[in-house]
Amino acid sequence: MLWIKSENRYKQNLFSQSLKSKKNKLMQTTLNYIDEHKQRFVEELFELLKIPSISADSAYKNEVLKCADLVAEHLKNAGADNVEICQTKGYPVVFGEKILDKNLPTVLVYGHYDVQPPDPLDEWKKPPFEPYIEKTEIHPSGAIFARGSADDKGQFFMHLKAFEAMMKTNSLPCNVKFILEGEEEVGSANLGTFVNENREKLACDCIVISDTHIYSNEQPTVTSGLRGLSYVEVEVEGPSIDLHSGLYGGAVPNPIHVLSRMIAKLIDENGHIMIDGFYDNVQEVSAEERAEMNRLKDDPEKFKKSIGLKGIEGEKGYTTLERTSIRPTLDCNGIWGGYIGEGAKTVIPSKAFAKISMRLVPYQTPEEITEKFTKHFEKIAPDNVKVKVTPHHGGMPYVLPTDTKEFIAAKKAMESAFGKEVLPFRGGGSIPITAMFEKILGAKSVLMGFGLDSDAIHSPNEHYGLFNFYKGIESVPLFFRNYAG
Ligand code: BES
Ligand code: MN
Ligand code: MN
Repeated sequence: MLWIKSENRYKQNLFSQSLKSKKNKLMQTTLNYIDEHKQRFVEELFELLKIPSISADSAYKNEVLKCADLVAEHLKNAGADNVEICQTKGYPVVFGEKILDKNLPTVLVYGHYDVQPPDPLDEWKKPPFEPYIEKTEIHPSGAIFARGSADDKGQFFMHLKAFEAMMKTNSLPCNVKFILEGEEEVGSANLGTFVNENREKLACDCIVISDTHIYSNEQPTVTSGLRGLSYVEVEVEGPSIDLHSGLYGGAVPNPIHVLSRMIAKLIDENGHIMIDGFYDNVQEVSAEERAEMNRLKDDPEKFKKSIGLKGIEGEKGYTTLERTSIRPTLDCNGIWGGYIGEGAKTVIPSKAFAKISMRLVPYQTPEEITEKFTKHFEKIAPDNVKVKVTPHHGGMPYVLPTDTKEFIAAKKAMESAFGKEVLPFRGGGSIPITAMFEKILGAKSVLMGFGLDSDAIHSPNEHYGLFNFYKGIESVPLFFRNYAG
């Protein structure tokens, strides 16, 4: 009895070994395919980058739609079935799928084909929608410069090309679905509804998103969380009309001064946000977890140099890494009012405005924080002005525990692709749909992004390293294999 058991086990081992080597061979074929076609992949990405799919600016509506068409065409050519350009109240969602067997797991790939406006245009070395490759200190083998190269066209395109490679080499190990949206950069207002109305169509076991960055090319990471967002616009009204600054100056509240004082009062000298109750629901990360995340060493000198700063600041008691990931923040994004044209105009404006973003961490919610901000802002306003707070889009924070199947599959995939240990890393940006996916589809998102924080996303001269692009394409089939088991 004992003997048979151990022989069976031995046989099983042999079997799993030969299965493993078969799988490894197949993976090698897929990786070879990627290597043979990588030049073409870049050329195809260039065509996508040439389309100015700026969702925030309605003047580019046709370009956004054209971009959706091209994405759908790529999905079809790569081998996806049921490719569809799904209409929403805003820009369409491009869908496609390959269902091999209903009993196999299904991975949903999410990305966005819209981009941020490219302004200020004169700070671009070459036009933002004329992609080109140039070497940089950080990217010695070259980077693709264009709006959307890293955020997110270059990143979701890695999935399309990895999918093509898996299809062409018969190595797709499970089902896959794609949703590529065109409104991420303006808050994904219609995506929640789309996901809600298409639960069946989007049913999946996990979601994989490449729309974040790694710590560095030397120290790859899997993003284990993102911050949420509350975004408000504020208005301070003083006198009912603009006034002559000579006739009235010195005797009336100037709304620009009032607004400046109010904004200055929102954060104290320790970097602490002064809004009543702001920290009530903030999850205090354990000392253990903080030690683990700080294995990624802050390099203050490098950090300062990369953004042209003499000194940094932030919440007391936290490292830069922590300040930009596990701690909530408040930033004024824009402030205006009065005369900003050429020359001088002596005027006390009637109104002053500002846009303010707050990055949130578990368990803060955008509704809660927007309400607390509004109450606080109204409270600190002097009696002689009127204030108005208008909420914009927001989003929930998201955390993927590092012991989940999804996280481990991504970590191992990247470890194979980079040949290095991969650490977890909480990102500071926001992708609000991740929390919605979990709520509506009951599936977790793994954030397997490959950009670098120096890629200048949302800025002039956005770029994406060729090294990162290729490592991403290689990591995707490895992820699929690890996840499908
Ligand atoms: N891809 C970014 C988010 C991101 C980038 C997260 C790098 C982590 C690392 C996304 O396109 C984005 O810009 N999101 C916006 C929020 C959205 C609601 C407009 C953001 O974070 O400001
Ligand atoms: Mn993005
Ligand atoms: Mn973005």
